[in-house]
Amino acid sequence: MAKKTFLLIGAGSRGNTYTNYLKQFPERATIVGVAEPRDYYRNAIAEAFHLPPERVFHTWEDAAALPRFADAVIIATPDALHEAPAIAFAKRGYHMLLEKPLAPTMEACRRIVQAVKDANILFAVCHVLRYTLYTEAIKKILNSGEIGDIVSLQHIEPVKFFHQCHSFVRGNWRNTAESSCMLLQKCCHDLDLIRYFMQKHCRSVQSFGSLTYFRPENQPKGAADRCTDCPPEIESICPASALKIYLRDRLAHGQTGWPVNVVTANPTPESLVKALREGPYGRCAFRCDNDVVDHQVVNLVFEDNATAQMTMTAFAEGPRRTRIFGTKGELEGDSTIVRVKNFLTGETRVIDTNVVDDGNITSGHGGGDGRLAEAFLRALETNDPSYILSGIDETLESHCMVFQAEASRLTNQVCNIE
Ligand SMILES: NC(=O)c1ccc[n+]([C@@H]2O[C@H](COP(=O)([O-])OP(=O)(O)OC[C@H]3O[C@@H](n4cnc5c(N)ncnc54)[C@H](O)[C@@H]3O)[C@@H](O)[C@H]2O)c1
Repeated sequence: MAKKTFLLIGAGSRGNTYTNYLKQFPERATIVGVAEPRDYYRNAIAEAFHLPPERVFHTWEDAAALPRFADAVIIATPDALHEAPAIAFAKRGYHMLLEKPLAPTMEACRRIVQAVKDANILFAVCHVLRYTLYTEAIKKILNSGEIGDIVSLQHIEPVKFFHQCHSFVRGNWRNTAESSCMLLQKCCHDLDLIRYFMQKHCRSVQSFGSLTYFRPENQPKGAADRCTDCPPEIESICPASALKIYLRDRLAHGQTGWPVNVVTANPTPESLVKALREGPYGRCAFRCDNDVVDHQVVNLVFEDNATAQMTMTAFAEGPRRTRIFGTKGELEGDSTIVRVKNFLTGETRVIDTNVVDDGNITSGHGGGDGRLAEAFLRALETNDPSYILSGIDETLESHCMVFQAEASRLTNQVCNIE
């Protein structure tokens, strides 16, 4: 079988995730071009795959200007930079692995979908949660009819307190205008998963949510605007303290990976404290320019009146959890263990889908990262789109659920899914 060739657009965190997967199978796949503005990341890919200079680009436009020179393109640029390259490479006839979300607006999502349909290419959006062993186990149970028809579903996405402080209060995803709404950034996976489990069209959505806690009026009395300047008697009892999150809870225990390496590239106690003194991650969590919500609920009604409810909250730990209520039984999952209760027999069956998340490519997102990359590669090798679990119309529908839920939150109205 001919080896499949890939062009990588955006060699950041996600681009490297998929590239590292492909690296494991040099006889099946290789990278033949890269576009990345940051020297270090661009050069690393160029060296690893021995790319000639004419296949190494500073930006996607330069690669898109050439006739197609790879079977597929991986687009892993920031959210606002998905639409233009996706449309350009679709027009060139590249099969495409596109990071989620499709794009920050519904109109842009529709334009991407149209371009993909016009080009008749293999296309997958990186809804990695669909590809985990855990999700696969639940889908098998639902498809078997074991719990009957789904009547309702409950899902929780616990963002985690420190993660909210890091990414959504102090970090790159804190501000809607600069990135996008919380639901799109953090929960487009969750609404997509709910759509996947429900296996039917969503009719209407309603949502409430707000930024309740990480606001100036909740700053502890006497606190400073930077954790490094805060009086110790206040800083030491603040769960949002940057010194606690990055230094005491992580670097002091030898942890130098995410999120510590986001604060400073080569973390040492000195470089970290300097970054907290000077940079965005040392700001008091009640004194940032954040506006994304810290909790949100979404109610959904589907075509046969089945309902679902999702809660996203900063104030919860642990994995995503889902309960699915059927006419013959009930299913409960915590991202690893699935429990199925049968109403007739009263018995509960337990399935353990444990995948150790050791930071390895095949285990990231509960194994979803590697299994998604594998599914896309298989689809290319066999020219069979059925390996791709996130079909394009369903992807558009689950994005529409996100945009309409956010519209509902902002307008205080129930919104329909077209
Ligand atoms: N599927 C998932 O679970 C998941 C998880 C995290 C992030 N994401 C999504 O993946 C995408 C990338 O996120 P990330 O965390 O890898 O970010 P990142 O910042 O690490 O990587 C993005 C890369 O794109 C590069 N880039 C910027 N402009 C470019 C241009 N003109 N041409 C080529 N490259 C350009 C940046 O330099 C950067 O290296 C985002 O859309 C994000 O929402 C998906």
